[in-house]
Amino acid sequence: MKVSIIGGGGLVGSSAAYALQCGGAVSHLCLIDANKDAAQGHATELLHGSCLTSDQRITAGDMDDVPTSNIVVITAGLRRKPDESRLDLINRNVNLFLSLLEQVTKAGLKESSYLVVVSNPVDVLTYLAVQRAGLPWQRVLGLGTVLDTVRFRSYLGKALHVPATQVQAMILGEHGDSMVPVWSSATVAGLPLEQWPGYSPKVANDVFDETKKAGATVIKLKGGSSFAVGLSIREVVESLAQDRRRVLPVSTLQQGLYGVRDVCLSVPTVVGCGGARQQIEVPLTAKERLGIQKSAQVLRETIAQVEGRIGKPGDQSTPRITPTAAATGRAIPRTAWQAGVAVKP
Ligand SMILES: NC(=O)c1ccc[n+]([C@@H]2O[C@H](COP(=O)([O-])OP(=O)(O)OC[C@H]3O[C@@H](n4cnc5c(N)ncnc54)[C@H](O)[C@@H]3O)[C@@H](O)[C@H]2O)c1
Repeated sequence: MKVSIIGGGGLVGSSAAYALQCGGAVSHLCLIDANKDAAQGHATELLHGSCLTSDQRITAGDMDDVPTSNIVVITAGLRRKPDESRLDLINRNVNLFLSLLEQVTKAGLKESSYLVVVSNPVDVLTYLAVQRAGLPWQRVLGLGTVLDTVRFRSYLGKALHVPATQVQAMILGEHGDSMVPVWSSATVAGLPLEQWPGYSPKVANDVFDETKKAGATVIKLKGGSSFAVGLSIREVVESLAQDRRRVLPVSTLQQGLYGVRDVCLSVPTVVGCGGARQQIEVPLTAKERLGIQKSAQVLRETIAQVEGRIGKPGDQSTPRITPTAAATGRAIPRTAWQAGVAVKP
């Protein structure tokens, strides 16, 4: 299983590579970056540690590696500035992302490969990738709220004095300001979190507040997230690579669950062979369900603004990305992400 990380010379990409090296579940890690020295530098150092980790090939490469990649992770992007909202990054990052998508599809992205989008604003870029990468929507996954969920569980563990591994709770919706904490099904060791000793509405508020601000806090303190986002990417990549079928809040194309459609955002999703195998709708409180719908509204408005600027696939004026030979014929028709289309995992 070959995983190529575009942006592998940067903080997030190199941290993902290190996490994947420690995980040992994939056989080839390839780092691709506009900054070739940075990609080569990280690949060289990872190689140094390879005798202490697992049997993997570790290389620095370029777009010629795309056709032989099983998973392409895109972390290339511009970092959020302190106090800048993720959605404010959009205009700076959309152009870069579209140009990368074009290069990836022209290089020959295999129709059996997976595209994992990490660059921000991740939900919007995932939507653009679903439309333009020439892959079935199930094979295009955004990191979504996986990192937010990881942070949430860890902060809850700290606040309640229990190991974070025993806290089960999810953040759904947008990877951004409108993210939704799902308290109604949260547990500690399988027991209701809201009845755990030490839990109170104030603790809950403080933990969620800390979770929401976590990205900005880390940017302020050390320039950007690395370790936790690397581990989060590993969770998604290894679930795909080993058909683990873990339930993860990845960002995928929504087609009606929770009353939302025509956006990419996070709902509980079974991730394994084939990509997003199943999107799960569970009963939520009215507030939680409304929260997801609010996320969808925020994202839809942003997508509309972006499409107003760059056009939609099929528009005469749209700079169109032509699917590669491998992907030709696999481009999803517009109807595939419109209302009423059945989910076929
Ligand atoms: N989804 C999430 O949970 C999450 C979490 C953290 C960061 N991010 C996002 O990840 C992205 C990267 O963050 P970072 O801290 O690694 O930034 P970084 O600046 O350290 O790395 C970005 C890398 O992308 C490379 N790059 C830029 N243009 C390129 C191109 N055209 N082709 C190939 N490589 C190119 C740069 O050379 C750089 O090495 C940002 O968009 C950030 O907002 C997402």
